[in-house]
Amino acid sequence: MTDPIASAYRLLEASMVHYQGQPVGTIASLDAHAPAENYADCFIRDFVPSALVFLLDGRGEIVRNFLSTVLRLRDQQEEMEGHRLLPKVMPASFRVLVHEDGREELHADFGDRAIGRVAPVDSMMWWIILLRAYCRVTGDTGFVRSTECQRGIRLILNICLQDRFEVFPTLLVPDGSFMIDRRMGVYGHPLEIQALFFGALQAGLAMLDPADAESQAVIRQSRKRLDQLTDYVRHYYWLDLARLNHIHRARTEMFGHDIENALNIYPESIPDWVTDWLPEDAGYLVGNLGPGRMDFRFFSFGNLLAVLFGLADARQSRLIMEVFQQRWDDLAGMMPVKICYPAMEGEEWRLLTGSDPKNIPWSYHNGGNWPTLIWALVAAALNTGHGYLAERAREVALHRLAHDGWPEYYDGRNGRLIGRRANYNQTWSATALILADKFIKDPSGLDMLRLGGAEEAP
Ligand code: GLC
Repeated sequence: MTDPIASAYRLLEASMVHYQGQPVGTIASLDAHAPAENYADCFIRDFVPSALVFLLDGRGEIVRNFLSTVLRLRDQQEEMEGHRLLPKVMPASFRVLVHEDGREELHADFGDRAIGRVAPVDSMMWWIILLRAYCRVTGDTGFVRSTECQRGIRLILNICLQDRFEVFPTLLVPDGSFMIDRRMGVYGHPLEIQALFFGALQAGLAMLDPADAESQAVIRQSRKRLDQLTDYVRHYYWLDLARLNHIHRARTEMFGHDIENALNIYPESIPDWVTDWLPEDAGYLVGNLGPGRMDFRFFSFGNLLAVLFGLADARQSRLIMEVFQQRWDDLAGMMPVKICYPAMEGEEWRLLTGSDPKNIPWSYHNGGNWPTLIWALVAAALNTGHGYLAERAREVALHRLAHDGWPEYYDGRNGRLIGRRANYNQTWSATALILADKFIKDPSGLDMLRLGGAEEAP
């Protein structure tokens, strides 16, 4: 039997994208029969586990090429008719077009071509986080302090910190603005975006030069927002049995400051499943929160990133991992990790996905199992002293993933079937496994994910 890790590396090498003779990224899937044309693009979020593998393997120059390429692409964004001065975001993905005369051209998708025209808000957060990880591993402060990178960090933080019609410190985004890039009722203040925002603020603060007059205002604002965001998420997004009981008996329709049920969550909105499912001595951050709205679904990536970056405090982090342990069959099952639990069915599916046949219950984003999330599960488990959960996740995935040909996702309550419309040879399924294996063998690799500056280190 071939070594799964060696096979994962073969896929990684084959996925390499070159521009002007340099490796600059990895394509999302090598499956020639992929259902959408853009799977042959290099996606910003899909490149993250590739980048972390390259960093641990001493191939930081590829990550640096990627970071500069994406930064340059940002300026390519065309203005939409009727919208002057759009704040420039980073693309969801890009590809290298080769003309007949051999000329190469970079072509990006800013959500203007993507299915459903979704806005890739997570790309800019991942860019800052990756820049920080690159800096931690390579020590290349020259690059981070370059005018282009400092400007890039400032522009990203400025977009996030702009005043909007908001009363919450969390970031307001449209549906499908992150890994779940289809309509899934994840508009508003989804947890994954808040965890990435937290990571980006922390990383940005650690990298901006405080002596640079141009950066001082954004540093001040970022500090303040980071504190407010942290307190707010730790308090309002947190759900454990005591909190559930509280909501169950909460008074509603209260006006004024200092009231318990400030967001006016109606006890009637508590779904049946959560009461039985939430284990004792455990807890998690809910998927979304807004006026009169608490999305009780468990979103794995948001919770894991909150643990990894420190948005969840030490106690909460331990209790989140407790949910993974006690609800292992639901959240990991036969292929770690379930993207969200539970699936939406019936009317809820019809109304919130717009009858999306790819997102039927227990498939794809609607409760499917995504091997790419294994790196985050393993990293969070190791960080919180749950080494056996990390081992268990690797054991489940190791041979099955390679044997199945690196599918993009799995279907069913426990991830038993290969995803109905999943690609094979999905790069981030392979790189996540390499990364998980590396973290288990040498947990010091996790240091690159400590995003804060020296003064913020634990
Ligand atoms: C799908 C996923 C998205 C991923 C892309 C490329 O659209 O939902 O998260 O980035 O495929 O793999």
